[in-house]
Amino acid sequence: MTTGPGRTPFEQLGGEENVRALVESFYDAMDAHEPALAKLHQLDEQGRVSRRARDRFAMFLIGWLGGPQYFIEQVGHPRLRMRHAKVPVDVAMRDAWVRTMRRAMDQRGVNGEVRGFLETKFAEVADFLRNKAE
Ligand code: HEM
Repeated sequence: MTTGPGRTPFEQLGGEENVRALVESFYDAMDAHEPALAKLHQLDEQGRVSRRARDRFAMFLIGWLGGPQYFIEQVGHPRLRMRHAKVPVDVAMRDAWVRTMRRAMDQRGVNGEVRGFLETKFAEVADFLRNKAE
């Protein structure tokens, strides 16, 4: 993967199609390996994390990484802590979330500079969203 000054993480990942594919891999891995985490989400009739939840996270991630601001345009300010206030985020759920994102990045072949950047950012935000002591 070529990198250079001024390239956003969104560009380094290869744009919208690749970010959406990463999000699908993320929730598919959650469905397959982290049932306790998946169950906190809205599920569809097949018991998989819903299309709505997938699309909202994809819109957010695209903007957060430097792409088009769909989430802000269509939903509003991210206010992530507020949006997770009703979700019990303890250490186990934080770690399950981060583990699931690692699986998804492995599966999509996210490597190099952008991988290091994302590992750090996701770990920080997941801990920032923790709202239970343990
Ligand atoms: C740390 C553990 C986390 C847990 C347990 C968690 C759980 C959830 C749940 C249950 C929802 C609601 C989904 C639904 O509509 O059914 C949600 C939405 C969302 N999460 Fe997380 N999340 C976590 C971490 C993160 C992180 C690290 C980010 C950002 C990098 C993030 C971004 C979002 C966004 C943007 C939404 C959509 C908000 C909305 O629909 O208004 N979450 N999350």
